[in-house]
Amino acid sequence: MELRGKTALVTGGGIRLGRAIALALAQEGCNVAIHFNRSREKAIEVKQQAIDLGVKAEVFQFDLSDFSSLDQLMKDVNNQLGTVDILINNAGNYKKGNGLKTEYDSLQATFNVNLFAPWWLIKAFESQLPSEKMGKIVNICDAGIFRTATDHFAYRLSKKALCEMTHMFALELAPNITVNAVAPGIMLPLAGYEHIDLEQVAARKIPLNRIGSPEIIAENVLHILHQDFMTGSIIKIDGGENIV
Ligand SMILES: NC(=O)c1ccc[n+]([C@@H]2O[C@H](COP(=O)([O-])OP(=O)(O)OC[C@H]3O[C@@H](n4cnc5c(N)ncnc54)[C@H](OP(=O)(O)O)[C@@H]3O)[C@@H](O)[C@H]2O)c1
Repeated sequence: MELRGKTALVTGGGIRLGRAIALALAQEGCNVAIHFNRSREKAIEVKQQAIDLGVKAEVFQFDLSDFSSLDQLMKDVNNQLGTVDILINNAGNYKKGNGLKTEYDSLQATFNVNLFAPWWLIKAFESQLPSEKMGKIVNICDAGIFRTATDHFAYRLSKKALCEMTHMFALELAPNITVNAVAPGIMLPLAGYEHIDLEQVAARKIPLNRIGSPEIIAENVLHILHQDFMTGSIIKIDGGENIV
């Protein structure tokens, strides 16, 4: 797909991986709808950087925990930037705790952001896309889905389900909408884990001996968007950490 002149919605586009994805899209000439929840100032910075790259950009605030209001998000984007051709489900919620320690509320909050919001947005995306147009969806999963572990119970379950949802919608939305995913390994320290020396972790756990970066994920999202014969694929970008 030629990206120039297309419009993309990036959830969680104000910071970290989402920011890199939004800016990479703008660099390719794509208009960008930058969704955020709490990172308003950062999202506005991304908007300005995108505009400086010569594309249209706008910011949209929505709490994805209230996923049932997401039709409004898509309508707001349509009103300001026109039809959305590309949807990047990037926003995510990462909660600690194994299965026994996880409370129902925490499980539900994680699923709302990581699974139900992408599901709702995919439906809204499909219904606003004219049937003669091509559409592309990229879900940001996690390379940890390829293994079973007991930590981060709610997060892992929701990302495994997002992976399966990628396959299911790839079948259901073919042939005019492709649905793929990127599954990142360690790219950045998580909020609250900045004290951990990720280079040391990488030396111990990652065959390529280093962590990735938001830009590497953005490059792989662009790679997917340029493919016309690819749907239902999950690209694992983790330096070999999860070879199983
Ligand atoms: N960083 C990594 O190494 C890594 C590794 C594997 C997978 N991933 C996945 O990659 C994606 C991006 O990760 P990240 O590390 O860049 O960011 P992150 O810190 O995991 O996620 C925060 C992002 O999600 C948004 N978000 C969280 N809760 C939200 C809510 N209730 N409503 C709306 N937006 C919400 C935040 O928006 P605001 O800041 O505006 O509130 C922010 O943009 C996530 O899906 C994550 O699971 C990341």
